[in-house]
Amino acid sequence: MDPISLYDYEARARHILPHNNWVFIEAGAMDEITTARNRTAFEALTLRPRFMRDTTERKTSTTVLGTDISFPVMIAPTDSHLNAHPEAERATARGAGMSNTLMMCSTSSNCSMEEIAEAATGPLWFQLSHRGYDLTENLVKRAEAAGFGAIVLTVDAPFPSPKERDLRNRYERPGEYGNFRETLNPAAATDGAGEPPAWDMPQCPPLTWRELDWLRSLTDLPLVLKGVRVAEDARMAVEHGVNGILVSTHGGRRFDDTMSSIEMVPEIAAATKERVEVYVDSGVRRGSDVLKALALGATAVAVGRPLYWGLAVNGAEGVHHMLELLREEFNRAMAYCGQSSVDNLEDPLLNIPRNWGPFRTENNLAANLPFAL
Ligand SMILES: Cc1cc2nc3c(=O)[nH]c(=O)nc-3n(C[C@H](O)[C@H](O)[C@H](O)COP(=O)(O)O)c2cc1C
Repeated sequence: MDPISLYDYEARARHILPHNNWVFIEAGAMDEITTARNRTAFEALTLRPRFMRDTTERKTSTTVLGTDISFPVMIAPTDSHLNAHPEAERATARGAGMSNTLMMCSTSSNCSMEEIAEAATGPLWFQLSHRGYDLTENLVKRAEAAGFGAIVLTVDAPFPSPKERDLRNRYERPGEYGNFRETLNPAAATDGAGEPPAWDMPQCPPLTWRELDWLRSLTDLPLVLKGVRVAEDARMAVEHGVNGILVSTHGGRRFDDTMSSIEMVPEIAAATKERVEVYVDSGVRRGSDVLKALALGATAVAVGRPLYWGLAVNGAEGVHHMLELLREEFNRAMAYCGQSSVDNLEDPLLNIPRNWGPFRTENNLAANLPFAL
């Protein structure tokens, strides 16, 4: 029988993948509290079903920074897809394209961004990890030339943070860093003349609002900040001219003991006041999660771990089918909540736990933040 939920894909991937690869994909930082919270927070939100309406026609397509996607689910940027499939990011790109949605490609992919662009049939954004001015400029210019539609700058990795389970397993990353074949001379990396490109860098070059301004002047591509967690940083991001914010805990993989991503969406949506698009990832596993995120102010969500599960089970087809399961569940959630279009969702659509923070109000509108916006 084909998998009928993302959790079926997860169970099969766990069975199929080499142990260390599986753990690399699954694990979170430290005690993995935030990774777990990313799920429990979604589960704590409940939907308010509405009936006696004709919802036979449902509009689920939307746009992200002007790009059409068939439903509000994107592929989050994640590295080294060779962990799950020999075709690596090429297969993921084809799977996303089959579902007519967008893939964000990691700086640390196994394939180069040019190879992914060649294989892709859908829109692509490039996830940028700042690697110092020279390497970063090289990446951005190549992303422009290869036709990527936006730069997604990851801001929530200021310091190396290997996961404890990976350390215990002596996990070794498979394959190469496709984006650094020409620019990185491995010898230079070890003698200090160059920069190793990945998460195993001994130090990450500083990334501040100054570097963001520099990046803004470097490219005309839209800029998305990934990993913003609080209203204060969201407001700064708007002031510095970004076009989108991807609220993310990195799947809880880098830093523990924070709120989940979905809990922060209302605060960030309120702080940015529709001046930028807001997206969210971390813990999305059901179509109903997508509706919950939209009801809180997100334009779209992204999935990380589930893409590896699809890849491991059935390559590009598996990624495609994983997305189609989410689409079907999302459609069902829309119908059961009496909603016909993602463009004008009813408010309130959710019951929000009272302990979610002082910024919540009775009618679920984010307001009354504990500080001035
Ligand atoms: C195996 C793996 C590798 C990842 N690599 C990157 C990366 O290179 N750059 C990045 O910004 N985020 C990376 N992420 C984080 C994802 O973009 C995303 O924030 C996270 O996976 C969302 O949570 P979810 O896995 O619960 O869907 C990675 C996540 C996973 C699971």
